Amino acid sequence: MHPVAYRIETPRLVVRCWSPDDAPKAKKAEDESRESLRAFMPWADRAPETLTEVIEKLRQFRSWFDAGEDFLFGAFDKASGDVVGGTGLHPRVGKGGLEIGYWVHAGHHRKGIATEMAGALTRVAFELGRMRWVEIRCATKNVASAGVPPKLGFTHEATLRERLTLPSGEVDDALVFTLLARDYDASPAKRIAFTALDAAGRDLS
Ligand SMILES: CC(C)(COP(=O)(O)OP(=O)(O)OC[C@H]1O[C@@H](n2cnc3c(N)ncnc32)[C@H](O)[C@@H]1OP(=O)(O)O)[C@@H](O)C(=O)NCCC(=O)NCCS
Repeated sequence: MHPVAYRIETPRLVVRCWSPDDAPKAKKAEDESRESLRAFMPWADRAPETLTEVIEKLRQFRSWFDAGEDFLFGAFDKASGDVVGGTGLHPRVGKGGLEIGYWVHAGHHRKGIATEMAGALTRVAFELGRMRWVEIRCATKNVASAGVPPKLGFTHEATLRERLTLPSGEVDDALVFTLLARDYDASPAKRIAFTALDAAGRDLS
């Protein structure tokens, strides 16, 4: 994806490439949110990571980001600087497309944070990455996650039967929501205010 947005600002958030020195804040947010994340996020269902493990994880995220392999972002409250969630643009769905993933701190649910993060990344994918489509996948049982893409104009395109194994071991169908480039201009995603900056802080948007 070129150019690469290292920092995205929305009305309430700074969504930026993770850095290893975010580890204390990231660990705090993850530990505080573990109970609400563990049903659908396999990493949250494992034992809490040590600070050293979180540093190593963020180093890995950062190296993927710099190498253009995968793009994981922390979402920080603009006013306090606290971690309010994490999100990502994942090229794993094939050339011309990106998948968006997200989680939100348990203390910030139902305030539109996931919608704001995913909307901003949708804008980055289409306006900077020139993608043909953006998709969001979630388990059928994940009612909260499935509520996000329709708010941004994504269409429920497919249900992949028995494609997911949840952390509990239960097998679930996967919902695939898609927004095509040709439908982007009319979508609510395009109305999410954002500024995207490159690694040197230059405005890309
Ligand atoms: C899924 C998740 C990211 C949603 O974050 P959020 O910031 O609370 O979501 P939003 O406030 O943007 O909600 C958008 C819409 O989703 C739906 N929604 C969100 N949470 C919901 C809930 N608990 N129950 C039912 N619908 C819900 C609603 O339609 C909502 O719109 P509304 O508030 O105007 O009715 C959050 O619940 C979370 O972190 N869950 C655990 C991790 C996870 O499952 N990640 C996704 C993996 S695919």
